[in-house]
Parts: sequence; C-alpha cells; structure tokens
Amino acid sequence: MKIVFLGPPGAGKGTQAAQIAAKLNVPHISTGDMLRASIAAKRSVGLNAKSYMDAGKLVPDEVIMGIVRERLQEEDAKKGFLFDGFPRNLYQAQQLSGFEKLDAVVDIDVPDASIIRRLSGRRCCPACGAVCHVDTLEGATDCPQCGEALITREDDNPEVVRQRLSVYHEQTRPLIDYYTGLGLLRTVSGDQDIAKVQEDILQELHSV
Ligand code: AP5
Repeated sequence: MKIVFLGPPGAGKGTQAAQIAAKLNVPHISTGDMLRASIAAKRSVGLNAKSYMDAGKLVPDEVIMGIVRERLQEEDAKKGFLFDGFPRNLYQAQQLSGFEKLDAVVDIDVPDASIIRRLSGRRCCPACGAVCHVDTLEGATDCPQCGEALITREDDNPEVVRQRLSVYHEQTRPLIDYYTGLGLLRTVSGDQDIAKVQEDILQELHSV
C-alpha cells in the first residue's frame, strides 16, 4: 500500500505510523526523522535544514523532494510506503502525484488546544526512535524500549510549536481539500486513546 498520514504537529502521525507500517509491512518514511538523522550525522542536507526546523518553518521543497526521491529508490520502498510528514504543501503533493499513485491519505485530526500539551510533554529516544509522553513515563527519564536517555526535541518549545501550527494551517491543511478532490482522503479523530486511533485508521485502510 502507498499511504500518506496528514495532520498537525503532534497529531500522533509518528506514533501511529511506526506501528501501522510494521503491521502493513511497508517502510515508515518520516521526512522529519530523515532530516534529524542527517543533522546528527552532520551531513550538509541536515545542516542546511536545521535553521528552518529550529524556527518551525518548512525546509525548502527542493531539499525535501531530493531526499524523498532518493529514499523511494531503496528496495524496501518498492512494495509500498507510509509517509509521515510528507507532503507538507501543495507543491510537494503535486510533485508526489506526478510519480506515485497513492492508495489512501489519512488525516489525523486533533484540535490545536491538545497539541501544545502533547508536544510540551513529548520525549524522544535518540537511539531507537521511540516517542513517549511524560504522562505515561511515570517519572522515568530513560527509553522504555532500549534504556537510552530520552531527549526533548529542540522544536518542541511553545514558541516554535505555535509557529509550526501556523505553518500547518497555512500550508499543509489545504492538502485536505486537495486529497478530498482526488477521492483519497480518510479522516480519523486523533483526539482519543492511541489504541483507538490505531483501530480507526486500520478500519479506514481495510476499506481501501
Ligand atoms: P516532523 O518531524 O514531521 O514534525 P511534525 O509534523 O511537526 O510532527 P511531529 O513529529 O511533531 O508530531 P507527530 O504527529 O508525529 O506526533 P507524535 O506521534 O510524535 O517535522 C519537523 C520539522 O522538519 C518541520 O517543522 C520542518 O521544519 C521539517 N520538515 C519535515 N518534513 C518536511 C516536509 N515534508 N517539508 C518541509 N519541511 C519538513 O506524538 C506527539 C506526542 O503526543 C508524543 O508525546 C506522543 O506520545 C503523544 N501522543 C500521540 N498520540 C496520542 C494520543 N492519541 N493521545 C495522547 N497523546 C498522544
């Protein structure tokens, strides 16, 4: 299957994509994770993207289209993919439509009020990529999956989160209309338990 997850920052795209991609046996492709890995490895793509990410702005389209096209050349992407965080604006969506035929686009809908609370409590594992929340960590500071010390993402401070939300409303939200027009959009409420969100997404995908 060829799937895109849409939704505001903190909607739970990464949380759901990791589990659902494994269930569907397709690679989970997160442009945000790819950029962060590139920054950690001090590659030029990442170093050029960092100032945009730290400011909560979109990284230039040519950079994103370059890493996406390269990633899709890899063997595992031949059987399908689940994009998380891509496409992010109309240009990227139109480019993607030019070389891939999607099966479904799932919009994970979460109101802005929940986003700030979620992102201010998010903790990430730099080793295995697990995403957690302080509400469920019961005071633990190490990754429940691999034991590495958890970190807070630099762009999760409230000021940058507000900027990311504003970019989402201006540039990403219009993709809901774009994909509705193509007959691909499925909407799921992301403002429920993680397990229930997953159940609803799988139900939508079963009917594709
Ligand atoms: P990216 O990494 O894609 O960030 P994002 O889209 O802002 O999304 P997040 O990763 O913040 O949230 P998420 O929806 O994955 O939520 P999560 O599952 O972690 O992009 C970062 C930056 O990279 C961008 O700002 C931009 O600069 C650049 N970039 C990336 N792609 C780009 C592109 N295509 N074009 C241009 N620039 C690009 O969950 C969040 C928290 O909520 C966690 O703590 C989690 O435990 C918790 N949670 C999850 N689900 C639930 C639930 N149901 N109930 C309660 N809590 C929940």
